[in-house]
Amino acid sequence: MKPVYLTTPIYYVNARPHIGHCYTTLLADVTARFHRLIAGIHNPHPAGPGPGTVPGVFLLTGTDEHADKVVTSAAAHGVTPLQWADRNAAEFERAFAFMGCAYDDFIRTTQSRHISKVLEYINRLKGSGDVFLGDYHGWWDPSQEEYLTETVAKEANFVSPVTGRPLVRRTEKNYFFRLSAYADRLERHIRENPAFILPESRRNEVLGRLRAGLQDVPITRAVTDDPASQWGIRMPGDEQHRIYVWIDALFNYLSAVDTPERRHLWPARVHLIAKDILWFHACIWPCMLMALGEPLPQTVYTHGYWVREGRKMSKSEGNAVEIDLLEAYAAMFSRDGLRWYLISQGPAGSTDADFAHGKFVEVYNADLANGLGNCASRVSNMIAKYFDGRVPEAAAAATPGDPDFASITRAAIGRLPGLLDGMDIPAALALGPALIREVDGYINATAPFKLAKQLDAPGSDAAAVKARLATILYNCAETVRIACVLMQPAIPDKAARLLSDWNCTPPADALLEEVGRFRGQYGLKPGGVITKGEALFMRADPAAAAPVAAAPQ
Ligand code: MSP
Repeated sequence: MKPVYLTTPIYYVNARPHIGHCYTTLLADVTARFHRLIAGIHNPHPAGPGPGTVPGVFLLTGTDEHADKVVTSAAAHGVTPLQWADRNAAEFERAFAFMGCAYDDFIRTTQSRHISKVLEYINRLKGSGDVFLGDYHGWWDPSQEEYLTETVAKEANFVSPVTGRPLVRRTEKNYFFRLSAYADRLERHIRENPAFILPESRRNEVLGRLRAGLQDVPITRAVTDDPASQWGIRMPGDEQHRIYVWIDALFNYLSAVDTPERRHLWPARVHLIAKDILWFHACIWPCMLMALGEPLPQTVYTHGYWVREGRKMSKSEGNAVEIDLLEAYAAMFSRDGLRWYLISQGPAGSTDADFAHGKFVEVYNADLANGLGNCASRVSNMIAKYFDGRVPEAAAAATPGDPDFASITRAAIGRLPGLLDGMDIPAALALGPALIREVDGYINATAPFKLAKQLDAPGSDAAAVKARLATILYNCAETVRIACVLMQPAIPDKAARLLSDWNCTPPADALLEEVGRFRGQYGLKPGGVITKGEALFMRADPAAAAPVAAAPQ
């Protein structure tokens, strides 16, 4: 199997983790779990695979620590920049652990394994003439720590398009990356590889911007007396310059796997990002990779933004969904309930998504409490009642008029690889609930609870009724099992519990092809015990008050 290497952005350590960071890492986690499901890599170790082992599906996340803001925030808190970075990197690790994200490595740009590789890449680029010393005049956005092109600055009326604060005209001696030399190659690559930038609207956005041509970009900043300017990786051979935080950061994707054991993971299958950092990932980074002679990632996947109750989230409004609020939701609706909402309703495509309490309750009830949870409990209750809690034996041949569950489930499983290639995670997640709806419809149509009344009715053929009941309930239970397998990447704990209650946990290395086969090797076995556990998901009361974040410590 070709290895699947997935990455998230590395997050700035000057802010606390919030819904946006958690969402991208969760999306990457769910994507990784889908790939692992196909490849038969179950039960990923939450703290990574351990030394010496490199799994075939590898998820990297981490923190970006050389931003100027780290120096100012650290000073404001009376600690060194590295202490501040340590503290906040730990917050991100805690947040992702709380979200149940199983990543294989967490990279920090202050680690020596990263710094030494950055120096090596820059030296290579200097050697090939792709990095050179020149003069830069530009519009600097102090709030975002980036230069804007003349056109963008003008369009934005010379204020930051993100924060609205004024841009500053600056001139400095910088090292440049010869971006202009790669414009044609990049454009050709994007045109020839429709899945290179997803979704398509983002691809068009980049192609549109490329039409204006590419200018060489500065990749260093001057080192001055200002302590903030002394934080970062120094330019090899020139202590007066440090590598611009964005260039340093982009290299993380390669530096993390640039070791003899991990080299085969490159190129990445998917870089997951949000729309704010598209240009860096879809233009600057691929051109740097071309200059380094490295193959390009298969896909740069860009999602939209979370907004809250219809309004943009911001610090000044104080309406950001912070980790504490997510914790309160998990406490009320379970962690898997939270994961399900975020991942199935998140801004996966090109439009933004709203974090709204009413919607949360609606989706939670529809898909989980009344969907999978209720369907599983209806089926296990009937199996308890009519078959003493043992999996009944279905008729060997499909009953005319019944849906063909073997083909329906096969089709669902068969769609998964294509959906993953197109990074259509919401569609992949919809496969399970669609099977549940099939089962609900089948129960309503065949009414097994009514049929069961005929068991003792005078004059009825009890054996035939029992056989029909067995077939119906087997079909239901086996389809619920497969739906549960398909939903497991999003709701790992609850899905594992249901599979365990039904005694059908597959072996740790079973392939999806087998696990997902109706009445296959890992299917429900007649006679197997179906334990009626507690409800998987308690129904939520739409009228009840929304969770509130615990007061800050
Ligand atoms: N450090 C850079 C990224 C370097 S990657 C080589 C950075 N960090 S960040 O902390 O600002 O994180 C940006 C990312 O956080 C976005 O691309 C997205 O993944 C996530 N989100 C931040 N706010 C978000 C929302 N409101 N909604 C969804 N995701 C957003 O940029």
